[in-house]
Amino acid sequence: MTHTQGMLREGSLKDKTIIVTGGGTGLGKSMSRYFLQLGANIVICSRRLEVLSATADELKAETGGRVLPLACDVRDPEQIENVIAAAVVEFGQVDGLVNNSAGNFISPTEQLSYKAVDVVVDIVLRGSYYFTLAIGKYWIDKKIKGTVLNISTTYAWTGSGWVVPSAMAKAGVLAMTKSLAFEWGKYGIRLNAIAPGPFPTKGAWDRLFPEELAKKFSFENRIPLERTGDHQELANLAAYLLSDYSAYMTGEVVTLDGGEVLNGGQFNFLKEVTDEQWMAIGQQIKNASRPAKNEGE
Ligand code: HXC
Ligand code: NAP
Repeated sequence: MTHTQGMLREGSLKDKTIIVTGGGTGLGKSMSRYFLQLGANIVICSRRLEVLSATADELKAETGGRVLPLACDVRDPEQIENVIAAAVVEFGQVDGLVNNSAGNFISPTEQLSYKAVDVVVDIVLRGSYYFTLAIGKYWIDKKIKGTVLNISTTYAWTGSGWVVPSAMAKAGVLAMTKSLAFEWGKYGIRLNAIAPGPFPTKGAWDRLFPEELAKKFSFENRIPLERTGDHQELANLAAYLLSDYSAYMTGEVVTLDGGEVLNGGQFNFLKEVTDEQWMAIGQQIKNASRPAKNEGE
């Protein structure tokens, strides 16, 4: 038995339909794979349908489960409502939502345009509250005891320099998690969050840990447990929080980061990066922020 193995018993999510935003890549894809292995139907949605369709084909072939890929920009409530409606047509009802979509990149804050701040805050905060509001209205109307899982970060409460738009937005998502867990408890709706430490994904690594910095500030030195996370570890926790095994847990944020948060703000180590270094890596990260339409990660 190791931390890279699935943890829950077979069929733990049987007959549940779960929407995973940003499920075409990275952690969203890994969580979706495990939910399918546990018997769930999955809806994955984000901006790039080509990426989602390729992931859906891969996961269906791998697990034999049912996956519906749908284009959706989470900043647009109409597109979100269409996703929920299409999921209901395809699977009968929706039981779970994972707000996993995000936009993020490291930068000295004074170098950001207003639009650069907006783009991150809108994807993370607006996207999460639009989707949660839409699904909550549907669940309350249909008397479904649904579950929301928000993928947060540890700097949602510690704060962190150099990722300020993301920190502000993730903090808002955390406030929503706790506030609605109280308010919607009477409907049997649960909301929880996970604060992951570094889990290698192309999306995060291209924008947050360019090679030059990764070498200089190695994870081994910054994380008490001296390693990054394995996707299965996160998928195990996510599946538990969406399953009925966690039926008495709501309003909680679970940190899964090898103890990294004990160092304080996750990106505050960037204080050592010089202006010259920022000039060199800034454009590199900007280029990575424009992924090809069909580039899976
Ligand atoms: C400064 C930048 C920039 C950068 C973009 N901008 N990248 N400014 N440094 N590196 C500015 C642009 O100049 C523009 O402003 C504005 O932001 C919008 O940029 P666009 O490229 O037009 O936006 P868009 O195509 O919508 O792309 C959104 C994005 C991109 C957020 C910039 O990175 C993206 O699509 N990200 C999605 C995936 C992602 O970020 N994954 C990582 C999640 S990891 P102006 O004013 O010039 O027009 C994560 C981990 C947390 O959250 C913790 C890790 C351990
Ligand atoms: P990722 O692969 O880049 O995932 C981000 C996803 O968000 C992509 O699939 C992207 O798909 C989607 N997305 C971006 N803008 C969107 C929009 N406007 N509408 C809908 N979807 C949108 O990165 P990841 O590392 O797996 O991150 C997943 C989650 O984990 C994020 O919430 C992130 O903050 C969190 N997290 C990650 C780490 C880590 O170390 N990896 C640590 C802490 C927290 P499209 O481009 O197709 O839209």
